[in-house]
Amino acid sequence: MRRTFHILTFGCQMNVNDSDWMSRSLRQRGFEEAPLGEADVTIVNTCSVREKPELKVYSTLGRIRQLTAGRPGAFVAVTGCVAQQIGSGFFERFPQVRLVAGGDGLTGAPEAIERLCAEPELKISLVDFSEVYPERDPALSRAPVPPVAYVNIMQGCDNFCAYCIVPYTRGRQKSRAASAVLDECRALLERGAREVILLGQNVNAFGQDAGGDGTTFAQLLRRTAALPGLERLRFVTPHPKDLSPEVIRAFADLEVLCPRLHLPLQAGSDRVLERMGRKYDSARYLQLVRDLRSARPDIALSTDLIVGFPGETEEDFLATCRMVEKAGFVSSFSFCYSDRPGARAALLPDKIPRDVKLERLSRLQARQDALGQAWLESRTGQETVVLLEGQSRKTDASAPAETSWQGHDPYGATVNVSLPPGAGAVGRMTPVRIITAKRHSLLAQQAGTPW
Ligand code: SAH
Ligand code: SF4
Ligand code: F3S
Repeated sequence: MRRTFHILTFGCQMNVNDSDWMSRSLRQRGFEEAPLGEADVTIVNTCSVREKPELKVYSTLGRIRQLTAGRPGAFVAVTGCVAQQIGSGFFERFPQVRLVAGGDGLTGAPEAIERLCAEPELKISLVDFSEVYPERDPALSRAPVPPVAYVNIMQGCDNFCAYCIVPYTRGRQKSRAASAVLDECRALLERGAREVILLGQNVNAFGQDAGGDGTTFAQLLRRTAALPGLERLRFVTPHPKDLSPEVIRAFADLEVLCPRLHLPLQAGSDRVLERMGRKYDSARYLQLVRDLRSARPDIALSTDLIVGFPGETEEDFLATCRMVEKAGFVSSFSFCYSDRPGARAALLPDKIPRDVKLERLSRLQARQDALGQAWLESRTGQETVVLLEGQSRKTDASAPAETSWQGHDPYGATVNVSLPPGAGAVGRMTPVRIITAKRHSLLAQQAGTPW
């Protein structure tokens, strides 16, 4: 019997990676992908980090109910952080939901979906946290994989920043064994991956928990960097308090480690950082920036920022703006503070009104946009290498016979390059010269032989 699935993904790269895995695992079990509204099972992989993505889950479930109204037997699986947060509460509120699976339970989701297809009366809840990282069959076939591969190195977080729900939705930090990470990287490189991005909520604390094998993050970086076939290595997300001198030194020593680092600052005011429980101050952060730049002078830095944390004054907010200038971020993700159930900050007094938060956010983003654009413009004329990830939607009007390709350079900038037919292919490392800066991307021309 033909069985079909459709996956909707919200949230961070870990969710994207988990969705890719569920998709591969379901295919191996004989499922086929179908458009939204036409699948037997719709999986909604959810994020709970702010109120907005959580609310989006409920509106999405309403929409799926309408779309599948004429399909008896169609059901929904809710996975990820909102599944962990609400648990079997979903069964009461949304009768079409028959599976909830949190971060750790996700490993059992494909098998549970098979069972649910066979037993129409059943509902399954997989929301227990496990003691150790739940290893899973990577479900890789012999087929090639995309050139950029994401590899989880850990699950969960122990930091309990005052605003954050992640320690509650993803549980305590659990590292994988270094050998499991390296085996997965090797398998991906053998299938054509050229760039590996190591993923975790606090990657520099890798290995330093009960589940870890004692390998430090710096050691893991060195061992990964030595794998045959690897052209590029990146990682997200490091916490500034745990960024060790050994990891900073890796930026000087490891040629494949890209000169780009996303280092979440969250706020520039020491008073706010203290109340957020981030365990560093602005001086320590700026020292890290200096150390990183002395290890790798061309490093491009980006960050996460929150505006309107409870009690944030205009002066505190201006301190964040000043830090953006001092650190010279080439881009940042910035968010209005949002109360999260269970997180300490939800109980703090002096909540900032919504219009004040939005006004601060737009001032901050305007400044960041200008800095980011100036950086892109400063790149004009430079030579760099693009890893081709796919064809871009826009065709180049000035060279209609050519195909426009898109990828990233080592600094993490999106680059578009036109290549003659036959010259481009997904996964090629292509030397280019940058011609102009567009809004949020660069336009380049080929400047050497691809490999
Ligand atoms: N582990 C990573 C990021 C986790 S969540 C880290 O420590 O940096 C991604 C980003 O969402 C955070 O960096 C933070 O900027 C933002 N965020 C988390 N909780 C939030 C909240 N309650 N309100 C607004 N933004 C939040
Ligand atoms: Fe959340 Fe802080 Fe952990 Fe990041 S380090 S996931 S912000 S608690
Ligand atoms: Fe969201 Fe969970 Fe990731 S809350 S940001 S999906 S860890």
